Amino acid sequence: MAEEVRVVTKRMREHTEDSWTLQRVLDTGGYDGARKAVVEMAPEELGGEVKSSGLRGRGGAGFPTGVKWSFVPADVSPKYVVVNHDEGEPGTFKDRELGERDPHQLLEGMIIAARAVGANKAFIYCRGEFALGSRRLDQAIRDAYGAGFLGEGIFGSDFDFDIVLHRGAGAYICGEESALLDSLEGFRGQPRLRPPFPAVKGLYGQPTVINNTETLSTLPHLILNGSEWFRQWGTEKSPGTKIFSVSGHVNRPANYEVPLGTSLADLLELAGGMQNGKEPKAIIPGGASAPLLTSTDVALDFESLQEAGSMLGSGGVVFMDETTCMVRNTLVTTEFFEHESCGKCTPCREGTWWAVKVLERIEHGDGRQEDMDLLLDICNGMDGRSFCPLGDAASWALRSGVKTFRDEFEQHVAEGSCPFGGGERVHVGARVGATGLGEAGITSQPAAGIDADSEPEAAQP
Ligand SMILES: Cc1cc2nc3c(=O)[nH]c(=O)nc-3n(C[C@H](O)[C@H](O)[C@H](O)COP(=O)(O)O)c2cc1C
Ligand code: SF4
Repeated sequence: MAEEVRVVTKRMREHTEDSWTLQRVLDTGGYDGARKAVVEMAPEELGGEVKSSGLRGRGGAGFPTGVKWSFVPADVSPKYVVVNHDEGEPGTFKDRELGERDPHQLLEGMIIAARAVGANKAFIYCRGEFALGSRRLDQAIRDAYGAGFLGEGIFGSDFDFDIVLHRGAGAYICGEESALLDSLEGFRGQPRLRPPFPAVKGLYGQPTVINNTETLSTLPHLILNGSEWFRQWGTEKSPGTKIFSVSGHVNRPANYEVPLGTSLADLLELAGGMQNGKEPKAIIPGGASAPLLTSTDVALDFESLQEAGSMLGSGGVVFMDETTCMVRNTLVTTEFFEHESCGKCTPCREGTWWAVKVLERIEHGDGRQEDMDLLLDICNGMDGRSFCPLGDAASWALRSGVKTFRDEFEQHVAEGSCPFGGGERVHVGARVGATGLGEAGITSQPAAGIDADSEPEAAQP
């Protein structure tokens, strides 16, 4: 029987009633990691520990965290830490839950990162739609100042540290780190040319560490227990545990924390298996950008998923059964990318727009036999030719839909209609509940249905 290993999600699962409050946090060892980092360890020691742990970023790219920190120049000041709490990847809702249920754990991680790189100020870039999460983060910051964990001379040391909470306006591209920085500075959120990378020239032109919410939330445990402890889970190149957001046609959609390297089949079992005893027909293993899989016989770590032709990405796993129309699925995903394309470069702006037009006509019965090759041609125009990875990702999702399920695309064209019943057009951002996608839907909201303003009890496994 597959089991969770709860490290980052431990407090929120064991204390569902008040895991976000300072009192509960202090009663369960909260801020011990940050205190150790500030009072007992030198900054170089912190960087060394994180480097030897092999922790890889949980935001999508999987870049080693300690290595990223080592690029920050020691002799430049000021430096900043920025938290990527934007989480716009469809199918992913782990950072949202971490912000709502354990905001102090994130603040602790920020203190550790800041201490390691010598930053005295940090920003949380919070997705605009996270109403409850931003309120909880705001309260947590106030309480941490009150307790002397933020501000001047924290934990009685000579280290000053301030945090600013900034709410975005809900653009997916603002999760891309350089667009995030432009948005934070008050400009339109569009990617910057890199190099220089943010570690060298980031926010306001100063060295900046940008890390994902889950990455930073892992740090208190890692610093408190050491890198060897952390490496007891996962694989050599993908150590530790990871939170996977599971949704689609499963019985218990929710966030599950498991060791990296756990099989997709075990994750499905944790999520209660497929609804109505059906088999998975297609699986998105790492958010909408990740190419589709058709088998659950794959290990969930960075290397294995790459070998399987896909990627771990943000850890948003969507299981779809045979009632899912894969043309419609590809259309909805591509519509998302078209809507979120920032328009800065031609391959992505034009490619996603034209791909949606072609997919729409196939889905609605007006497709042509040459359309599948046309779609693959559009992919070639975007992949590797776009200014930022959004354009590449759009082509990966589209190409994998057409290549893996080409027979379904051809059937749509041959029959002049959708064999799954088609239906009215689904608009990006709608909560897809019926037509074509069955009950699965691909959405960046948790399928278990956390209401933005309610207490988030519904997402517990
Ligand atoms: C289009 C796009 C959207 C992204 N959205 C997010 C996001 O919502 N959250 C996130 O942490 N990283 C996101 N990323 C990845 C970030 O650019 C960056 O790699 C990450 O925040 C680094 O943190 P990490 O090293 O801790 O993973 C996105 C990247 C791209 C290209
Ligand atoms: S690839 Fe898309 S999102 Fe990225 S810069 Fe170009 S238009 Fe903007």
